[in-house]
Amino acid sequence: MLFALLALGAAIGVGAAPSSGPPVVQVPSMDNFVLGSGVAGQPPQVRHYEFVVEEMLGAPDGVTKPMLVVNGLFPGPTIEVNQYDRLVVRVINRIQNATTIHWHGIPQNGTAYYDGTAGITECGIPPGQSLTYDFTFGDFSGTTWWHSHYDTQYTDGVTGALIVHPTFPDPPGFPTWDEELVIELTDVYHTFSTILNAQYLSPSGPIGGSAGDEPVPDSGALNGLGQYHGLGNYFNFTLQPNKTYRLRLIHTGSLADIRFSVDNHPLTVIEADGTLTEPTVVAGLTLAVAQRYSVLLTTNQTNGSYWMRTLQQTDMFTYKLPGQNPDNRGIISYGTGTGPTLPPAKEDPGATLGGMQLNDLDPYTLPPAVPEAVPDNTKFYQVSFEFDNLPSGASRAYMNGTSWDPLPKTNILLEIQRAYNAGRAFAPEGASVQFGNQFLITEDKIEVLDLVLENNDNGDHPFHLHGYSPWMIGVGDSPYDPNNVTLNTVNPLSRDTVEIPANGWVRLRFITYNPGAWTLHCHISWHMSAGLLMQFVTLPSVAATLPIPQVIANMCSAA
Ligand code: C2O
Repeated sequence: MLFALLALGAAIGVGAAPSSGPPVVQVPSMDNFVLGSGVAGQPPQVRHYEFVVEEMLGAPDGVTKPMLVVNGLFPGPTIEVNQYDRLVVRVINRIQNATTIHWHGIPQNGTAYYDGTAGITECGIPPGQSLTYDFTFGDFSGTTWWHSHYDTQYTDGVTGALIVHPTFPDPPGFPTWDEELVIELTDVYHTFSTILNAQYLSPSGPIGGSAGDEPVPDSGALNGLGQYHGLGNYFNFTLQPNKTYRLRLIHTGSLADIRFSVDNHPLTVIEADGTLTEPTVVAGLTLAVAQRYSVLLTTNQTNGSYWMRTLQQTDMFTYKLPGQNPDNRGIISYGTGTGPTLPPAKEDPGATLGGMQLNDLDPYTLPPAVPEAVPDNTKFYQVSFEFDNLPSGASRAYMNGTSWDPLPKTNILLEIQRAYNAGRAFAPEGASVQFGNQFLITEDKIEVLDLVLENNDNGDHPFHLHGYSPWMIGVGDSPYDPNNVTLNTVNPLSRDTVEIPANGWVRLRFITYNPGAWTLHCHISWHMSAGLLMQFVTLPSVAATLPIPQVIANMCSAA
């Protein structure tokens, strides 16, 4: 019933969006954002999807631009499964470049070759070909997403939500909710990412900026809708009064941190990147690129319409574009009987609880719902990263002095197998550089590995580790001083995407149980393409025996 109600009011226009001529990108139907199909609680099963990656014109904020999308939709189809289900997705590539789909946050234990990472675990699906990803979900449950992991391609629209319901009950006393909604937040660029990326990596930098400046977005979108100078639409959820909704927030964007809030409504944070958290009531919260949170919202204010705000943190922009709109909104409304109306445009009123103004979330002190005993580390590494200029003046990113580029016509997983088949180890234990531009840390035993990641840059960087969900046991200002750190080994939060503060460090801990080649990279699209990526090669002698499908190996010669 809720479903029917919701379907009534998908979008409220602020201007006429052009909609005739060739097929254009559509905003998916409401069931893409309302989880009510009864998947949760079903017995384990195989779930099949078909993804067609295509280039189409789309206009998330009312300005028509070329996009790369899955099944003609932006955002792409939501995948909803249960923990331990098996997912089979046939990806058909109808664009002009190779593509991949990466399942962000899914450990891929035993199926590293389906991690979808170009240059690391595959070479990309060549134009006109298809690849079927086929894997079983492991320990991960919670809110995540899928996206292309080929150059800056996901910036053009190849993104979607991936929701994994847990098979175990939540901890005793954990809050409950009535309905679940998916909210995908992003920044929007009017220019194709390959053009912007070439400008970014050139000695002159992007138009309007200078060398090393990241291209800045024109606007943003919430569930595929944003606003730009009187154009665009507002995404609308029509809800029921006096119910509690779990909002699953996903930052699917490319550069800016985004602050999310709903006018007058306190939000209770209960999940970060798949880890349940101690319920924490806030006025708003800021997501770095690729991070996810679940928050509970109760529709117990005066019946009416309220802004959902997605405010890009423009202090991350090194230059401004004339006319860019970092303030993109959606609407929730309930109890009006007449459908949604535009809330009066005004500043964020904040949210109160018991008459007190609430603060925003501090992501570095958020405790997990269930404290985990963290084992002592058996290995320790320190890695720093920075940006530097090539002799031409163009900017590149370096991790311990190495700037990453994807390997041409091969990938790390294949090279690991080749090496072992030839009777040698792929790389020495510990830190090494292979092929001149692949910075690796290799561990062939199960270790408790600590990594201090030191940010020598004056911007924040959201780093994501594939294959694992590390505990964040410390954070501080650089330089990292081992004699003067406070570590949290009592109840650290584990999550797969952590923002490393400007001129600061974060200490991560994880157990190297997962055979494969796992990247650790800045999730800002432009930075990964500038080389801000390293890899953990864990249990390579086991990874060498993984049954890499022949089709994946064959795609390397075609790539
Ligand atoms: Cu969201 Cu390396 O990926």
